[in-house]
Amino acid sequence: MRKKITVIGAGHVGEVTAFTIAQRELGDVVLLDIIEDMPIGKGLDIREGGPVGKYDSTITGTNSYKDTAASDIVVITAGIPRKPGMSRDELVGTNFGIVKTVTEQVVKYSPNALLLVVSNPLDAMAYTVYKVSGFPKNRVFGMAGILDTTRFRTFISMEIDVSVESIQALVLGGHGDTMVPVARYTTVAGIPVSHFMSEDKLNAIIDRTRQGGGEIVKYLKTGSAYYAPSLAVMEMVESIVRDKKKILPCAAYLEGEYGIKDLFFGVPVKLGAGGVEEIIEIDLTTEEKQMIKKSEAAVRVVIDLLKF
Ligand SMILES: NC(=O)c1ccc[n+]([C@@H]2O[C@H](COP(=O)([O-])OP(=O)(O)OC[C@H]3O[C@@H](n4cnc5c(N)ncnc54)[C@H](O)[C@@H]3O)[C@@H](O)[C@H]2O)c1
Repeated sequence: MRKKITVIGAGHVGEVTAFTIAQRELGDVVLLDIIEDMPIGKGLDIREGGPVGKYDSTITGTNSYKDTAASDIVVITAGIPRKPGMSRDELVGTNFGIVKTVTEQVVKYSPNALLLVVSNPLDAMAYTVYKVSGFPKNRVFGMAGILDTTRFRTFISMEIDVSVESIQALVLGGHGDTMVPVARYTTVAGIPVSHFMSEDKLNAIIDRTRQGGGEIVKYLKTGSAYYAPSLAVMEMVESIVRDKKKILPCAAYLEGEYGIKDLFFGVPVKLGAGGVEEIIEIDLTTEEKQMIKKSEAAVRVVIDLLKF
């Protein structure tokens, strides 16, 4: 039996996520949106690519939560993206209402699902899903760190002309401008990245990574990034469905790890069939700890706006 994976929100991120999940045959996909009929059209379009794309996954577009019943994984992408000049945090008012309503419906029909949150502001929306669902903390998590890390890896690859696959990196913290790319844990085939470039170059890349989402928003003018985000979601779904237990930077609920309590925050986790199976705590320097504190404070400001 293939897994049942529901994607809520059939906008840019939702449709590309559904497409990549289908392409890799990670499961059968249900694609839901509030816009009448639109997800049915997108679902049919993706399904009709199967014979040439060589995938047998089914994709069902729908406006009804009944079709999502008994999902194994639900990816929540519903909500509005930011506009040029906006921060992710400014979306909180609108997206809180959307994500709360969506979660209530999702848990009614799929009480045993793992919930993967994508809507922004990411850490606050993951917190919303956790509180509204009442699910245990291993079954609710957010996608952000893989995206921030894949941007960091891409910029390093562009600078030193080395395969992206040779670059391992880690970005911690909230999904915003205070994110913490940890240069010390960034390597090229195991060799510290500092061997390949000057500190100034690396700092410029770290700055570009922090602003990576905004850079794309500026060029797109309407909407935000969706190819790299959708692939990042796919990597998480794959690690769960195939129980690969990859160590991936994800937004997870912390209860004292990294000195942080009652907050979703980007940390390395072991992601497998059980969802967040372990949170990995790594040693940080005093300077890195200070950056983490700054990032924690930024996430808390947004969480404090939520009505719980
Ligand atoms: N975590 C990340 O790293 C990351 C990356 C990219 C985008 N995002 C966020 O993901 C969200 C989606 O981005 P997008 O580019 O796909 O936006 P989009 O506008 O293209 O799509 C959003 C979709 O959500 C739907 N929607 C709105 N309310 C809904 C509801 N109540 N129920 C079901 N569907 C509903 C809309 O109709 C729309 O089709 C945004 O909040 C964006 O900021 C997060």
